[in-house]
Amino acid sequence: ISDNWPGYSLDLFTYPQHYYGDLEYVLIPHGIIVDRTERLAKDIMQDIGDNDIVVLCVLKGGYKFCADLVEHIKNLSRNSERFISMKVDFVRLKSYHNDQSMQDMQIMGADDLSKLTGKDIVGTGRTMKVLLNNIEKYKPKMIKVASLLVKRTSRPDGYRPDYYGFEIPDLFVVGYALDYNEHFRDLNHICVINDHGKAKYRV
Ligand code: IMP
Ligand code: MG
Repeated sequence: ISDNWPGYSLDLFTYPQHYYGDLEYVLIPHGIIVDRTERLAKDIMQDIGDNDIVVLCVLKGGYKFCADLVEHIKNLSRNSERFISMKVDFVRLKSYHNDQSMQDMQIMGADDLSKLTGKDIVGTGRTMKVLLNNIEKYKPKMIKVASLLVKRTSRPDGYRPDYYGFEIPDLFVVGYALDYNEHFRDLNHICVINDHGKAKYRV
């Protein structure tokens, strides 16, 4: 998605009334997110071969993407002759305050990190590097990272996921489980918040 992409008018879609006045435009409508995720599932299926997979969902922002991705993989697997065994685990990372990435990173949960990945968005790439360092200690056979979004940020950490849905401009986005101080996770589309929304939910 190019830097000058104007997005879709909010009036073209429905969204929760409690966010009226807080959003600028729709960057990616929910239907397109789901369709793109189906293709990622197909690509992953092709690469995984006959290996079993353990999906490690990065909470909270990755829960929608992870759930839809797993669902698509299950459907593709059911409709083909290959049955891939899947386990799901969760890890929770927290690094953002308002719309700024913070230095300190908290990792919570996941009984056993000897596993693999599915997450929401790679902004600077810092979060993903910290997580991967922690997972690699357990020497898994294969680690693949799937992220719905990758940001063209001005301070990239040189990190690229193995699979991603969309490369987006360096904007703070919300919706489809992505939050601004825990708000907007209940919005289906990926949207850009306006100044009013930022001020309203600032902490
Ligand atoms: P990074 O460390 O900058 O790559 O940020 C990664 C994490 O920060 C993501 O997993 C998100 O949870 C959060 N994040 C980064 N950019 C955004 C955004 O635009 N909106 C909401 N959350 C974001
Ligand atoms: Mg967040």
